[in-house]
Amino acid sequence: MSQAADEYAKLLNHPDVAFAVDLASRAGALLADRPESLTVETKTTDTDVVTHMDQLAESLIVSGIELGRPDDGLLGEEGAAKKSSSGRRWVIDPIDGTVNYLYQLPHWCVSIALVEEETNSGIVGVVYAPALNSMFVGLAGSGAFRIMGERVTKLSVSTQEKLSQSLVGTGFGYASDRRAHQAQVLTAVLPNVRDIRRLGSCALDLCLVAAGELDAYYERGVKPWDHAAGSLIVKEAGGQVSGLNDEQPSESLILAANKNVMPQLLKILREQNVDQGA
Ligand code: IPD
Repeated sequence: MSQAADEYAKLLNHPDVAFAVDLASRAGALLADRPESLTVETKTTDTDVVTHMDQLAESLIVSGIELGRPDDGLLGEEGAAKKSSSGRRWVIDPIDGTVNYLYQLPHWCVSIALVEEETNSGIVGVVYAPALNSMFVGLAGSGAFRIMGERVTKLSVSTQEKLSQSLVGTGFGYASDRRAHQAQVLTAVLPNVRDIRRLGSCALDLCLVAAGELDAYYERGVKPWDHAAGSLIVKEAGGQVSGLNDEQPSESLILAANKNVMPQLLKILREQNVDQGA
């Protein structure tokens, strides 16, 4: 057994890790068996969609948590909300990257985080991308891992020192006026980086930063369920996660990178007033 596999086996002894991995695996298996036709409804705009599979997967996860962790709170993208009596809350996105799921592109995932309610700090983060055969798992203080079938890798962010050599992920909101401002900010970022990727799932972008497969990721407008699990995974892989003013990430901005690239990208985003406008 490799050292990473050995460490991951120990992580699975933690009851909340095993519980979250099991829930993500079951939701992922349900979603991977995608029906030919999906029932699609729109949410905040005509381009912001939810399918009946998002709702089915959220129900599966929620009923699992209600059964297995009845005292914990809940926050889910598709409406799950429950007060906590334990001081802990599960933050879940049944499909992050729903547009990719709809178009049968592989970058979508199930994202499940367990957080301390008072501090909002992550305890466990699990991001499962069945179409990429990748399960990302992090436990506070114990590292982050990627499991691809039998192969287990311990995650570590890139060592890139220069923003000009960095591959940077980003994403766009669903409202036209928000996108127009995001495009304007991008015109200042693009000439200063190796290149940009828009893969379509905040949770997976964060995991790719953790794996060193992106040097950085930023986006305005993402919600706690998009980034709760991925943020913990980045931190456990030695990376940094920030908001616009060095505080926790918020809807104004999430930025994830290694310690070298972080200040360079943050400077440009501040200069561009990334949180202003629509
Ligand atoms: C979306 C994805 C996307 C990001 C959007 C999110 P959803 O989540 O994370 O990458 O750009 O801002 O809303 O809607 O697929 O759960």
